[in-house]
Amino acid sequence: MIPLKDLIKLITMALEIFSRARRQPQKPAPVKRSQGSSPARSHKAAPSTNCCDRVAPVKGGLARRFFRTILAVVQIFILYQAALRLLRRYLKFPAPAFIGRFLDSGYRRRMQPPALLIERSGAQKGMTILEIGCGSGAYTPWFARAVGETGRVYALDIQPGMLKQIRRKLEQPENQDIQNLQVTAGSAYELPFENESLDMVYMVTVFQEIPDKARTLKEVRRVLKRRGVLAISEFLPDPDYPWVTTTVRMGKEGGFRVDDVNGNLWNYTVRFKKG
Ligand SMILES: C[S@@+](CC[C@H](N)C(=O)[O-])C[C@H]1O[C@@H](n2cnc3c(N)ncnc32)[C@H](O)[C@@H]1O
Repeated sequence: MIPLKDLIKLITMALEIFSRARRQPQKPAPVKRSQGSSPARSHKAAPSTNCCDRVAPVKGGLARRFFRTILAVVQIFILYQAALRLLRRYLKFPAPAFIGRFLDSGYRRRMQPPALLIERSGAQKGMTILEIGCGSGAYTPWFARAVGETGRVYALDIQPGMLKQIRRKLEQPENQDIQNLQVTAGSAYELPFENESLDMVYMVTVFQEIPDKARTLKEVRRVLKRRGVLAISEFLPDPDYPWVTTTVRMGKEGGFRVDDVNGNLWNYTVRFKKG
């Protein structure tokens, strides 16, 4: 969770950008005085025959418009983020199922590639893995392929609307090769698995959405084998995105030790191990 003072900084920054963009002076297009013209004639702004006189102001205008558009986009993004983060701070509810199609998009996977998440989490052939909060399945098939025929992936989510989407995705012809994936309805608070039965549990942009984190971590510890892995991945555009230090602190408080921290501000994974 991003602290309130940082949120206020974000909003102030957005407003500052906005007011600066508005304050930009609208310079009049320069009028070039042609050589030899008398002062009396020059202020009449006779039409110029020089090509550059006409092109330069247009170029300046385009650059200014481009700059202002970029500023507007940045400003909208910051305000949107600040508003959503404020809302999420006081209202905790699972990400609505209708955003499933945006989560499971090629555009998102370009920014947060599945191969990167697999590598950072340490998923390997033969592992038995649980994904908590699989959503519409943006990453699940990739993990299923990574563990191979000898491994198994369980995809769990609390919302029927999300489970419907991942099931539909798995019915698609391109996913018919996946035979080791089981979709399960359930809550992170009561995982339907035996004690010490899993090699890895992973969550992608989920952990901060769950109100009782201590209870979730306790349950994850229960189902993980000794030295089992918990991999938590976060992505900046998610309104619940926490600083990496928050994720590390919460994992440690939940009794895990940090095995690896990988990525950047935009998208990172913290890999924990059960001691
Ligand atoms: C932001 S979505 C992320 C989905 C997916 N991991 C992704 O990255 O595309 C969060 C998901 O976590 C699920 N979720 C929230 N709270 C949960 C809980 N207590 N137990 C299981 N799933 C939960 C939501 O239903 C939602 O599908």
